Amino acid sequence: MRDGQVADRTKPPGEAIADVASVVVLDFGSQYSQLIARRVRELNVYSELLPFDTPWSVIAARKPAAVILSGGPASVYEDGSPHPDPALWSGGIPILGICYGLHLMAEALGGEVVSFERKEFGPAVVSVTDQEGLFAGIEPEQSVWMSHGDSIERLPDGFRPTARTDSTPYAAVAHTERKMYGIQFHPEVVHTKRGRDILRNFVVDIAGARQTWTPANFIASNVEAIRRRVDDHSRATGTDGKVLCALSGGVDSAVAATLVHRAVGDRLICVHVDNGMMRKNETELLQVAFDQLGVRVIVVNARERFLRKLAGITDPEQKRHAIGNEFIRVFEEEAAKLGEIAFLTQGTLYPDVIESATSDKEKSASKIKTHHNVGGLPDDMTFQLIEPLRYLFKDEVRAVGTELGLPDSMVQRQPFPGPGLAIRIIGEITADRLDTLREADWIVLDEIKAAGLYHEVWQSFAILTPIRSVGVMGDGRTYGNLVAIRAVTSEDAMTADWAKLPYEVLGKISARIVNEVPGVNRVVYDISSKPPATIEWE
Ligand code: XMP
Repeated sequence: MRDGQVADRTKPPGEAIADVASVVVLDFGSQYSQLIARRVRELNVYSELLPFDTPWSVIAARKPAAVILSGGPASVYEDGSPHPDPALWSGGIPILGICYGLHLMAEALGGEVVSFERKEFGPAVVSVTDQEGLFAGIEPEQSVWMSHGDSIERLPDGFRPTARTDSTPYAAVAHTERKMYGIQFHPEVVHTKRGRDILRNFVVDIAGARQTWTPANFIASNVEAIRRRVDDHSRATGTDGKVLCALSGGVDSAVAATLVHRAVGDRLICVHVDNGMMRKNETELLQVAFDQLGVRVIVVNARERFLRKLAGITDPEQKRHAIGNEFIRVFEEEAAKLGEIAFLTQGTLYPDVIESATSDKEKSASKIKTHHNVGGLPDDMTFQLIEPLRYLFKDEVRAVGTELGLPDSMVQRQPFPGPGLAIRIIGEITADRLDTLREADWIVLDEIKAAGLYHEVWQSFAILTPIRSVGVMGDGRTYGNLVAIRAVTSEDAMTADWAKLPYEVLGKISARIVNEVPGVNRVVYDISSKPPATIEWE
């Protein structure tokens, strides 16, 4: 595992996984590129997403079993459209081109690609004409997902069509001897019914990739690599090689800490800063879980400090900055008390690594809100970083967490933002308002869990608004707060839809909140999607 390095997607991931047969996915800008890599990993084959212009020497150094070319929004015949290093085509490695990737392959090897009059977007049916290779074991009629405006006009020498649709004779093509395959549709999306099987046929049967990418193997090799790294450092410096970890309560830092603990034992010290913005019982649950694992956790009660810093602040971005900065201060103070620390563990994930290395588009998108991870740490700290999750997707992190023995309540939990309840209180944050929201939030989760919906939705929570409205309780008038409920479904938080919660569940949540939470007399349900709204209100 390539821990302790800055984000750089062009270097091999390092000793811990270097011997794992891998599939390189080259990213030509498709919204599905990450999904391709994830699907390959679901076959227990390690897969990495690299920029389209990664030099062939870098790709070859990984000794990949295969290369997959993603789709993309460009047209291969346009000036400036993204192309791979031409050495790829004579590299002797099996290649699968998907959509734009197919067009690249056709163009590079002497075929012709043209703008397509009958553009296809959405579901389509392909007729498989050759049930060998890519389509082995696949029925002749297939529901697939298309999204293309270009098409192959003439095939390169040696290629033959293997599937067609009503609009194109080249829905799939193959050059069996060179192990080059192309498909016009997207096997990575769920709408392509046999997409996974088609990918398996390519990755496992045609390319011969080894299916060794499992949580157990990942843990074994990383524990070994981390231990060696920390031991080497200890020996070289004559220190005891302490490792520090900021434990937020979220899945990522919990899994990273547990993995590192397995490698270095008591040399790992976890610090959990209780900023007072946590959900009910959150800090206690964390303590119990880590106690059971034998991991040392220092809990810093900094509730008052954070409240003081947040006093009078109503602007969402100011709240985020105040919390991020105060976290850094508290963490630095705690670290200073612990003596010499060589390493810091962070729960950075692969999508963060990919995003920090890519386009301006993504950078500008992230400016909508300043996301602060509770583990986001000062740049000038002099630790070496251990980031054991930097090549994992979120679902893989969960699988590793389970394999490490973390409880489901920790591993399968819904995401929770770094600034916590602070960005779910509209207006000023006070101890009282936090208590009000904490109670309402607890009821939402309690009822969502009772209805068996906790894992069906991406997130479900309450928001405390500054709106007050008139109500009646007993015979008396009330003038209480408005609480909003937000529950969304989502794949990756980039887009989200409001969850169609059953009325009975909404009814129970509402009745309990107005009865059990003092000062709240009205509950509304947020039915906005993202975009144009965001998941959190601030
Ligand atoms: P939005 O509100 O932008 O949120 O649609 C997308 C996802 O990110 C979470 N979120 C955060 N997570 N620090 C985090 O670690 C933050 O500052 C932060 N703000 C939002 C949000 O809960 C959702 O899952």
